[in-house]
Amino acid sequence: MPKSRRFQPKTKGKAAESVRTLIPRAQIQRRIAEMAQEIRRDFPTEPLHLVGVLKGSVFFLTDLARQISGDISLDFIAVSSYGHRTETSGEVKLTRDLDSSIEGKTVIVVEDILDTGMTLQYLLRVFEQRKPRRIRVAVLLDKPERRIAKVRGDYVGFTIPNEFVVGYGLDYAERYRNLADVGVLTLGAKEKKS
Ligand code: IMP
Ligand code: MG
Repeated sequence: MPKSRRFQPKTKGKAAESVRTLIPRAQIQRRIAEMAQEIRRDFPTEPLHLVGVLKGSVFFLTDLARQISGDISLDFIAVSSYGHRTETSGEVKLTRDLDSSIEGKTVIVVEDILDTGMTLQYLLRVFEQRKPRRIRVAVLLDKPERRIAKVRGDYVGFTIPNEFVVGYGLDYAERYRNLADVGVLTLGAKEKKS
């Protein structure tokens, strides 16, 4: 397999955006299988309630859930924080709530990426008020350099440098979620990052 593949959408007359592979799909899948085992090792017999943060976590959540043995249930929540930009606004708003109560459940919050931590800090506050038995956090990617809020992932797939990444659920203005690898996005010459 080539070390770095580039995805370049066709554009007329302007320097194209490009994506340079950072974490190839096979490595993502191997790490997810390990994370699933780590989670089950910590909770060998308990039913686990996975809460995915829409939409970025969807691919990660479905792959992770299928690797965890035993009793699993799923729910989803959606927040908005980024809009169409690559810089966070720091504002988090709940746009879709859970379908069911988490009271008494062992909840694993599943997120695509931990960046400033503002989103997760907000969600953990919301969830803690609802009296779960316990809460853990699983994130595929962690960008610790950008952290503002005092939060951490209990299960972290990959720690990455401070670059804007797309693929495997992560988007730039809703695009690139369907890439199977995680890659670093370089914007075209005429585009701005915010
Ligand atoms: P935080 O609140 O700054 O930790 O940001 C969390 C959310 O911002 C993530 O769930 C992503 O939706 C988005 N985000 C942060 N960094 C990136 C990135 O590099 N690429 C795509 N989305 C990102
Ligand atoms: Mg997200």
